[in-house]
Amino acid sequence: MQEKQTKNNRPIGIFDSGFGGLTVMSAISKLMPKENLIYFGDTAHVPYGSKSKKIVTEFATKISKFLVKNNVKMIVIACNTASAFSLDALKKIIKVPIIGVIKAGSIMAAQNTKNKKIAVIGTEGTIKSSAYEKEIKKYDNKIRCYSKACPLFVPLVEEGWNNGKITEDIINIYLKDLVNKKIDTIILGCTHYPLLKSTIKKVIGNKINIIDSANAVALAVKNLLVEKDLLKGDGKATYKFYVSDGPEKFKNIGNKFLGKKILTVNKVEID
Ligand code: DGL
Repeated sequence: MQEKQTKNNRPIGIFDSGFGGLTVMSAISKLMPKENLIYFGDTAHVPYGSKSKKIVTEFATKISKFLVKNNVKMIVIACNTASAFSLDALKKIIKVPIIGVIKAGSIMAAQNTKNKKIAVIGTEGTIKSSAYEKEIKKYDNKIRCYSKACPLFVPLVEEGWNNGKITEDIINIYLKDLVNKKIDTIILGCTHYPLLKSTIKKVIGNKINIIDSANAVALAVKNLLVEKDLLKGDGKATYKFYVSDGPEKFKNIGNKFLGKKILTVNKVEID
């Protein structure tokens, strides 16, 4: 029997350029197992990381409007690039609460660092935007940030090359300069990078804190729902998945990002 829709049992809308944001969905579903969730992966337009702010914001706007039509009670931009480029613009036009992933990860890193030296890695778009640095400086302007775009990490993860010699070499090439700066904390500022976490750790050693913001984002979502009195108290959760292209591929690869079996994926046109 279908649950009667109330203000609080409306779903949370989550979107990303593709599969990667499922790592954020997974953290949200673990923290709030009763919440209904709708996920949109913009697989027709992935990757966002090498695209312009203007085009990413156009995609993010269409997706957010699609989610609002599906009666979401809030929106989580699970994609770092779209959060960096489009959160401010979306806040002005979308009438439900909306959060990105940058702030939660920045605060977590700023609270973790002892020597006030933080590295941020992400897509070209996220790094060019300096969004992480701006948030970290708001928290503590004495912290020094070193950033680096790592464009090969996303295709490595999409191919399932999460470990092995070649992946370790690529990680080393990208990260050795940051490690030489004596950073004590590194932010994985991209949806895909948590899947490389153990290999990154192997390459950079155990002494550097690795910040994977998915859990921090899930907590920020919960706090916002509590603040707005929108938390869903009970009942079984339903999950819906939408993509703009390739539903079968999404289903197969998505399982590994979500850590659960995805049963149905619907392809929709949002243009
Ligand atoms: N989701 C993107 C991010 O977190 C990575 C993949 C892409 O470039 O679209 O920045």
